Amino acid sequence: METVDIFIKNASELVTLKGHNTPRIKKQMSNLSIIYNGSIAINDGKIVETGKNLNYNAEITIDAAGKTVMPGFVDSHTHLVFGGSREFELDMKLKGFSYMDILKKGGGIFYTVDETRKASNDSLINQSKNRLDTMLLHGTTTCEAKSGYGLDTKTELKLLTVQKKLQEIHPMDIVSTFLGAHAIPKEMGSDEYIDLIIDDMLPKTKGLAQFCDVFCEKGVFTREQSRRILEAGRNYSLTPKIHADEIVDTGGAALAAEVGAISADHLLMSSDTGLKAMAKSGVIGILLPGTPFSLMMKKYSNARKMIEFGVPVALATDLNPNCWTENMQFMIQLACLNMKMTSAEAVTAATFNSACAIGSNDRIGSLESGKQADILILSCPSHTFIPYHFGVNLVDAVIKNGSII
Ligand code: NIG
Ligand code: FE
Repeated sequence: METVDIFIKNASELVTLKGHNTPRIKKQMSNLSIIYNGSIAINDGKIVETGKNLNYNAEITIDAAGKTVMPGFVDSHTHLVFGGSREFELDMKLKGFSYMDILKKGGGIFYTVDETRKASNDSLINQSKNRLDTMLLHGTTTCEAKSGYGLDTKTELKLLTVQKKLQEIHPMDIVSTFLGAHAIPKEMGSDEYIDLIIDDMLPKTKGLAQFCDVFCEKGVFTREQSRRILEAGRNYSLTPKIHADEIVDTGGAALAAEVGAISADHLLMSSDTGLKAMAKSGVIGILLPGTPFSLMMKKYSNARKMIEFGVPVALATDLNPNCWTENMQFMIQLACLNMKMTSAEAVTAATFNSACAIGSNDRIGSLESGKQADILILSCPSHTFIPYHFGVNLVDAVIKNGSII
């Protein structure tokens, strides 16, 4: 009998999501390829085999009777690295101030920019490390992280450098996005700032980022400004992403299709035309239900319509000082209870489709031979318990790169 590092057996549900390596759409999102009473063998950080009646000798054997075993969550949209906090904005929100009211008063992103510019590398590393620990404890094994609280060349590069350092020192896998176009800094006009992004910042992102994102929004970057930045990012091999139609429909979804973005994120206000254009071009819709939750909005993204149109839907936290959560289980709960996604669709969105949205599905997002062993053991007998048994941490154990955390 072959000997492996870890052998997990008797899982009530082994949720593999195997057998389909492109972003899942429509009915494909409901098929989790579950093996009931499943086993999985892990060696050298990789998945060796999944199946029903497997037999392996192992250094560590885990009996997962009554438990769900599934791929680690992939959080495909976070603003992981930031200084300070904005708990005081909660009272403003309760008094009825909107996100944009607070931003226009010089709060919101601008408050965090001041705090982030002041913070040292070490302090940003320490604060972000705590967030990564919390993410891992709640089952996230890979995350995307965006710069965007610098808004000057020095601080934007500081943020990307911190993200690189975190990738080296923390077990979490981190994929980096340059989001210099997160807001227009108070000290200059929009044209001047866009020139700075294109001429000075983008050339310096080499080796530090894989994606370029823009906050395309009324009062922030217009559709045409966003297009210019994203097309310039292409010259430095940065794949476009867009914060699209979060507060007002400015045609961000359609722009994502036009520039060949890998994802368009938020999509609260997107038009049918925009969503259909995304479906046609295969742009992944990353839905961030924590944001309308934290802003106490009645409206959530129309996930049902997106799935009907054939948009591959992913889920992420949007972790940032306005929407501070590290917990992907909570996103699944919001997706099911407030966006009417089924538990299977939400699990696909939080794992495999999220991996696709950061270009990592060849390595992670499903439990298949040869893939990275990023695996969760949940203290519940089926994946449906994730939205059903809410407000607690259902993660019993996290296996990251083949090691039990
Ligand atoms: O995705 N909307 C733009 N950016 C973030 C929020 C950033 C902030 O408020 O600090 C988002 O929601
Ligand atoms: Fe965001």
